Amino acid sequence: MADASRPGRLSGCKALITGASRGIGRAIAIRYAEEGADLFLTATSMAKLEETQALAEAHGAKVVLHCADVSVRTAVEAMIGAAIAALGRIDVLVNNAGVYKAARLVDYTAEDFDRIMKVNLYGAFHVMQLVLRHMQANRHGKVVNMASTGGKWSSLNQSAYNASKHALVGLTRCAALEMGPYGINVNAICPGFVETDMLDAFREHAAILGVPFEKVMEAALARVPLKRFLKPKEIADLAVYLGSSESDGMTGQSLLIDGGMLMV
Ligand SMILES: NC(=O)c1ccc[n+]([C@@H]2O[C@H](COP(=O)([O-])OP(=O)(O)OC[C@H]3O[C@@H](n4cnc5c(N)ncnc54)[C@H](OP(=O)(O)O)[C@@H]3O)[C@@H](O)[C@H]2O)c1
Repeated sequence: MADASRPGRLSGCKALITGASRGIGRAIAIRYAEEGADLFLTATSMAKLEETQALAEAHGAKVVLHCADVSVRTAVEAMIGAAIAALGRIDVLVNNAGVYKAARLVDYTAEDFDRIMKVNLYGAFHVMQLVLRHMQANRHGKVVNMASTGGKWSSLNQSAYNASKHALVGLTRCAALEMGPYGINVNAICPGFVETDMLDAFREHAAILGVPFEKVMEAALARVPLKRFLKPKEIADLAVYLGSSESDGMTGQSLLIDGGMLMV
């Protein structure tokens, strides 16, 4: 229900955002606060979360913080319980937490592969499953999963990351199919290159190729028709649309926002 004291496209909305301590998750928290939402923000470390909290509270939002590793089921159970207790309900889940590591497939350690799948795929599954049980009972809700262009195509030296994001796109579609009858929308965002700490991890990719980081970034940019990397706020703007009633007619979609890099 809209809150007259804080008008906006998400007025009165209660949102849970994972990976909100920096980058895209922080930008979503700020945009959601600007649009009138109250927030439950999570990540594994508190210091950066507190910075996001201050930025969101400046827009009048109630903001509750919680540290949890999304790959740990018991931690996620406690997190969802705390979110519902703090906000009363969850209207929108933004499943944004993610990790990246570059390695050639033949060189990936099983531990690194496992870690990426556990955070990017199983983490999204744990959080989504528990929140969907709550939303299903309320017969209302929206889920926004943060996938990637890596969830739609092939990329050198990131097979684990791409596998996790392809799986997240598939999970999004299946969840949308099952949740449609309950009035719950489940969609994914597939960003291209976005200026965050994660982009810096491309240094690993450059090292594997034996090419300077700057050259790798130039080559990346050459593939983007808009000739620039995206800002986190641009991804957040799409997350506002998917979290609001404006997207009521859309479900099961994985939306590319990548400067035109992929046109599929
Ligand atoms: N940047 C890009 O170019 C790009 C492109 C496509 C998709 N994406 C996706 O967008 C999402 C956000 O990425 P970003 O670029 O903003 O990356 P980022 O700056 O590295 O932020 C990642 C966020 O996830 C949190 N996180 C990491 N592991 C976690 C875990 N086990 N449990 C809970 N939280 C965890 C981090 O917080 P702590 O470290 O404090 O836990 C941080 O808040 C990711 O899913 C990423 O795959 C990014």
